[in-house]
Formats: sequence, C-alpha cells, structure tokens
Amino acid sequence: MRTMASIEDLRQTARRKVPRAFFEYAEGGSYAEQTLNANCADLERIRLRQRILVDVSERSTRTTILGEPVSLPLVLAPIGLCGMQHGDGEILACRAAQEAGIPFTLSTMSICSIEDVAAAVAKPFWFQLYVMKDRGFVRALVERAIAAKCSALVLTVDLQILGQRHRDVRNGMTVPPEWRLKTILDIASKPGWALSVARGKRKTFGNLAGHIRGMENVNSLSHWIAGQFDPALNWKDVEWIAGLWPGKLILKGILDVEDARIAAQTGAAALVVSNHGGRQLDGAPSSIAALPPIAEAVGSSIEVLFDGGIRSGQDLMRAIALGARACLSGRAYIYGLGAGGQAGVARAIEIIHNELDVSMALTGVTSIGEIDRRVIAAM
Ligand SMILES: Cc1cc2nc3c(=O)[nH]c(=O)nc-3n(C[C@H](O)[C@H](O)[C@H](O)COP(=O)(O)O)c2cc1C
Repeated sequence: MRTMASIEDLRQTARRKVPRAFFEYAEGGSYAEQTLNANCADLERIRLRQRILVDVSERSTRTTILGEPVSLPLVLAPIGLCGMQHGDGEILACRAAQEAGIPFTLSTMSICSIEDVAAAVAKPFWFQLYVMKDRGFVRALVERAIAAKCSALVLTVDLQILGQRHRDVRNGMTVPPEWRLKTILDIASKPGWALSVARGKRKTFGNLAGHIRGMENVNSLSHWIAGQFDPALNWKDVEWIAGLWPGKLILKGILDVEDARIAAQTGAAALVVSNHGGRQLDGAPSSIAALPPIAEAVGSSIEVLFDGGIRSGQDLMRAIALGARACLSGRAYIYGLGAGGQAGVARAIEIIHNELDVSMALTGVTSIGEIDRRVIAAM
C-alpha cells in the first residue's frame, strides 16, 4: 500500500481488483450524475490561501465529534453492500477506522451484521438506520444496535424512495440481481476478490437475513427491501426514533436551510449535510454549496457534519473552513477497501490525514479549531 500516493491511486487499483458491477455500484450516482460530479467539482474550485513564515512546528489534527476525541475530523460513512467490495469489508473497515482513532458507521444494508461487527472489533461503532415500512423490524433493529452498544445512531432521511442509478441497471445490479454471462466472466477474472468474498462471513444482507420470515436469499431480500422504503416518512418518525434511541442521534441527508432549522429543534446531536453522494436527487446542489448557509442558520445549536466529494485532506480542510465540524468519507475509503482490504482503508485514512496536516502547515494553522474562512483564498 506504500506506493499508493493518493485516493486516485487507490481508486485505480480498486477498479482493477473489484468486479465491474460492484465497482460501478460504488462509483456511480443517480440519473445524469450531475450532482455526483458537482460534489467533487465544486470542492476543487475552492482555492486555499497560502501563508508563509508562521511557526507551524507544533500542529495537531485532533478534535472531538459529538464530544468524543478523534485523531482527525473524519468518519467512515455508511455504505450498503460494503462487504461486496472485499469479503468482510465492514469488519475490516471498522478495524482500520478504530486503529486510526476515528468512528466507523455500519449501514443497515451491510453484508456483515451489527452482531458480526460488534464481535470482531474492539470499540463501539456508529449504526446507520433506514426507516422501513415494517416498523416492527425497525424497532428490533434499533434494539439490536442498543444491545451491540453502538455509540451513535445515524438516521438517514434522504432515501424515502430510491433514485435510479443507470450504471446499476446496465450492470444487472437490479431487483432481483441479474447474473449475466459478462458479470460471471468478469468475476472469474478477479480471483483475489472472489476468494475474499467466498471466505467472508456472509454473502447477503446480514442485518436482514434470518430476521424477516421467509426471506433468506439475495433475491427475496432485495425484493423485500425495494418494497420497504417508505415515502410516508416524516418528522413524526424522527420523533419516534428519538424516543427509541437513548444515545446520540444524527440526521443524515440534509441539504436545505429550512430542513436544517427543523432538524436543529428535534434534539438530535448532529446533522449531516449530504445529498447521499449524488445518488438520490440528481440536479440537487453539491453538498459543499449547501454547507455554508446551513452552518450559518443552525449556529452552535447542533453539530454540523458534512459529506459528498471528499477525496483528499485539502477537501476536508475546505469543508471545515466552510462550517463543518467533521466530514464523512464514502467512496474514498471504499476505494481503499477494494484496493487492499483493511490495509487499503488504513492507507486511505492515512493519505487524507497527511494531506490535511500538510495543508494546515501551508495555510499557517496549527489546530483544527483555527480552520475557518481565513484559510480560503479570495477568488
Ligand atoms: C456505494 C455506496 C453505498 C451507500 N450506502 C449508503 C447507506 O447504506 N446508507 C446511507 O445512509 N448512505 C449510503 N451511502 C451514502 C454515503 O453514506 C455518503 O453519504 C456518500 O458516500 C458521501 O459521498 P462520497 O462518496 O463522495 O464521500 C452510500 C454511498 C455509496 C457510494
């Protein structure tokens, strides 16, 4: 992994190692991918302000998220089917995050279950919840997250209906999954991946299998899931979840100032400014365009987290400068996982960490608390 100099290097390696259908599932966005592309493009357009002759010999990237100390302001985002980028992907990514001193978030749609991950790692992790129509199942899932001692519940609020991803349609990543000859031949040409997935604990949705009567295989479960996203989801459900969950609640998927103001009044500990990595409403603003007015509107009433397009430490700095307390990373760590399992995720975190540290030095700041609009160059 030492020769991997950037997240782009990890991406290129993952592209070679992971079957195309799964790589493109991670890489792609919804419809014309305008919002997906804008997430990265708008971040890149923000120029950092070079400062000189400031003593930056003592620097620290340490900070806190929801009161918990972290080595840098980064969280691994919830990723559905993470264990299809590499066998046992959720466990490996969680271990890498915990060794690096940052939180990991397990998706409802993970391959390894909450219990699998809890048994395999040293510390508590965050759990991400989708509210399905079957509220009994949702309640049971929250109880399982409590039993596993998860340290925060991330309630995703931007997927009440699924945006179409054209690449998934073309690759047969549909309901039910289509096993095309092209996909089978592609998998046969990726023996390292096939071996890691074959050796992995599970091959289907770990949090669901065995918990829904009659639904055991990928086909029946993916049908169940497709019918379970709930277009009736509303703020009353947030109240209901807040009543079930005794710990810290995070609302993920907020892109509008009005919604952010309401979120701040729910008692949630944090919100995540996010467009689901450009996978839901195509044509929505980039996350970085949405961040400053939201941060300004909610002030210090709720912690503001951010995701969408983070591919470097410079990006992390840009988002923090514009009002984020910390950022979630999705694809950047998934590329690491596909490229090299746990070592690849560790490398992705290290790359972003080193880039953040050097960017701090070259913009003349020595602590995360000092990063604000003054590190942004006037354009
Ligand atoms: C392959 C993939 C699967 C995802 N699955 C979930 C999920 O299960 N739950 C969720 O809340 N967000 C999910 N997301 C969104 C991420 O948590 C995050 O918001 C997004 O990836 C951030 O953008 P980035 O990939 O540019 O860092 C997924 C994103 C990707 C790329």
